[in-house]
Amino acid sequence: LSRSWIIGVIEPNRAVGINCDFTEQFFIIVIESAMAELGRLLIYEASRDWLPTITGEIETPVAVASVEFIDPREPILVVPILRAGLALAELASSVLPATKTYHLGLRRDEETLQPSIYLNNLPDKIPEGSRVLVVDPMLATGGTIVAAIDLLIERGVTSKQIKVVSAVAAPPALQKLNNKFPGLHVYTGIIDPEVNEKGFIIPGLGDAGDRSFA
Ligand code: PRP
Repeated sequence: LSRSWIIGVIEPNRAVGINCDFTEQFFIIVIESAMAELGRLLIYEASRDWLPTITGEIETPVAVASVEFIDPREPILVVPILRAGLALAELASSVLPATKTYHLGLRRDEETLQPSIYLNNLPDKIPEGSRVLVVDPMLATGGTIVAAIDLLIERGVTSKQIKVVSAVAAPPALQKLNNKFPGLHVYTGIIDPEVNEKGFIIPGLGDAGDRSFA
């Protein structure tokens, strides 16, 4: 996905050469639907060749066809990190209808940039063999995503069972993930070059949670 797609669709007012005159409300709708659509595309990519399948047959009006199904016996979990993860995970069920969604609420302190957990809906034990998609649009310093994965690992998941889906990722977060969970796969719309002293990705998209839900 190109920067022009992400900035052009999510942030049309910032796209060079486009003279927009939209209302703020319209922007919120554009941002939400673009986030959801981006999430759908990335979740599809993350799921490709990763989910266990079984072979079966279906009857079309004219013949019997051999088909591959996603094995419904193997659990697939979607874990959106509130708030902003809700927007990116909104269309997950259109790609993966049989998923279970477990919400995690983490908020980053504006001064220390350390995350704290305010909601944890994960089951005490995550079933063996589960595949887990952790969804958060912004990977900045990486503190939040690492804390989320730590919570999953405490509940019996290994990092090999996890994939991360984000809209914008920055090098500090990717470095931290790589150091702590080597081999973890991250599916992101774009990698931006840096994080500033306030913890914002540059150029980034601003505060994705505020922009989707405030
Ligand atoms: C943002 C973002 C990530 C986190 C990234 O959430 O959605 O969860 O910050 O920062 P990090 O990589 O430096 O930890 P925020 O804490 O602002 O909460 P929100 O989604 O409710 O706005």
